[in-house]
Amino acid sequence: SRAALRPCTCRHLVGRSYSSTESSPESKVAILGAAGGIGQPLALLMKLNPLISSLSLYDIANTPGVAADVSHINSRAQVAGYAGEEQLGEALDGSDIVIIPAGVPRKPGMTRDDLFKINAGIVKSLCTAIAKYCPNALVNMISNPVNSTVPIAAEVFKKAGTFDERKLFGVTTLDVVRAKTFYAGKVKVPVAEVNVPVVGGHAGITILPLFSQAAPKSSNLSDDDIKALTKRTQDGGTEVVEAKAGKGSATLSMAYAGAVFADACLKGLNGVPDIVECSFVQSSITDLPFFASKVRLGKNGVEEVFGLGPLSDYEQQGLESLKPELKASIEKGVEFANQN
Ligand code: NAD
Ligand code: LMR
Repeated sequence: SRAALRPCTCRHLVGRSYSSTESSPESKVAILGAAGGIGQPLALLMKLNPLISSLSLYDIANTPGVAADVSHINSRAQVAGYAGEEQLGEALDGSDIVIIPAGVPRKPGMTRDDLFKINAGIVKSLCTAIAKYCPNALVNMISNPVNSTVPIAAEVFKKAGTFDERKLFGVTTLDVVRAKTFYAGKVKVPVAEVNVPVVGGHAGITILPLFSQAAPKSSNLSDDDIKALTKRTQDGGTEVVEAKAGKGSATLSMAYAGAVFADACLKGLNGVPDIVECSFVQSSITDLPFFASKVRLGKNGVEEVFGLGPLSDYEQQGLESLKPELKASIEKGVEFANQN
């Protein structure tokens, strides 16, 4: 049958059925930092996404090889590799979504904020190019520290006159992926059935998983269990950094999470209803200007930012404790963008 001949897709990765064929609308997705630890497996996963017709792989070097390799996969997206700043405009031109995993990763002993010095400048220059070459694209920011790089991007776009708060996302999906995995392991339920909202930001205590809202509900979790699950989710990135012992941070699980989030954005752009993911976005649900919470994705990006819902006392305390750090990280990004 025709169905049997269709290329393998990553539909099963995202757990939502969406019947899509070669007749899906054209969509161009660009990955900036595509030759990196995240970039390469993310390029692979995006090549498997049937909603993408054009996949643009940009890095400062080594993208021709990655692009040639990925391009041989017999799925829909046409792949092109771009290397070096002089090719950035062409790489971005006409993009519907730009995913940014460009920048240095942590080594043991570092915080995400320690990456600010190098990554802030990289993000600023890439966002300047986005404002010029594809000002309407949805931007999925992966580069750390996300709590600061998203505000930097917003400031760059504001200065260029292209800012649309519905189109800028800090990718916090890996926190949700981890919270789901750890919760399912503890409660002993099939992980595919699990959902856990994670709110706040993407660093240490600013990562606030809301296990009181986890589905399916569990009545067997003690307060200590919830504390341990919360801490493991908050320290998930560090767990990987330490296990990799100097060879970088999460790349494979991050590529998976990035692919899940980009797929949700694509579905929203294509008018699929009820697409909800957590993301770090401009927000008025707390007194902070950016905050991660559940958002509904649609044809223009964010259609609705959901409130936090009922919090346990423990989560309420976590929310109050994270605010000063998150506020400072946001301000640091805004200041950097405006003074350089
Ligand atoms: P990596 O060093 O393996 O790859 C980064 C890539 O970025 C390299 O290929 C490098 O050449 C490229 N690059 C550097 N400057 C660039 C520029 N100006 N333009 C385009 N590309 C450029 O690092 P990685 O492991 O892929 O991690 C990338 C970033 O993602 C880090 O900042 C890391 O902290 C972050 N990260 C975020 C999350 C998250 O949950 N949001 C998860 C994991 C990692
Ligand atoms: C993660 O959560 O894995 C990333 O933010 C990378 C890191 O430095 O921990």
